[in-house]
Amino acid sequence: MNTYETFAPEETFELARHLGERLTGGEVIALEGELGAGKTLFVKGLAAGLGAAGPVTSPTFSLLHIYEGGRLPLFHFDVYRLPSSQAIEELGYEEYFYGLGVTAVEWSDLIKEYLPKEYLLVRIAHFYREDKKEARRLELIPYGEKTEEMVEELKKNDCTGN
Ligand SMILES: Nc1ncnc2c1ncn2[C@@H]1O[C@H](COP(=O)(O)OP(=O)(O)OP(=O)(O)O)[C@@H](O)[C@H]1O
Ligand SMILES: [Mg+2]
Repeated sequence: MNTYETFAPEETFELARHLGERLTGGEVIALEGELGAGKTLFVKGLAAGLGAAGPVTSPTFSLLHIYEGGRLPLFHFDVYRLPSSQAIEELGYEEYFYGLGVTAVEWSDLIKEYLPKEYLLVRIAHFYREDKKEARRLELIPYGEKTEEMVEELKKNDCTGN
């Protein structure tokens, strides 16, 4: 299983950073998980892995942040407040989803029908360890061959994988 458990925000960030280092462009990373699961933190880790600084533009009321200055641009959508799934068309999503950069989508379950054939689904869930410390379980579910390979590579290099 491509499941990881993290016991601190830094561990989630690090996992995402490792993934970010492996991105070559054209990837779509779909994030599912309840409020406060760690989706935004994961995207920040991806940006760090790409060598990008903070988001430089927020053209559409925070529905889309763009991280530039890294190896590849990172387009960060948060579609939680999208009035309907079709509204993503007005954001020109195709340019990002099918472009040369990397796209991350928080609350991707809301726009499922717009996701490309190949993407990486990251499911994040809260859980509590025996000592009641809050933790997160991250499930990486690849769709498509290239994404499968990426997840396998990540597994080889990360000791939190099981
Ligand atoms: N193991 C962990 N992994 C990730 N975040 C953690 C962990 N433990 C605690 N946290 C905390 O959980 C919060 C996650 O916040 P974040 O904004 O990334 O969530 P989100 O899924 O984007 O929420 P929203 O749905 O509101 O956008 C942060 O405050 C972070 O410090
Ligand atoms: Mg968020």
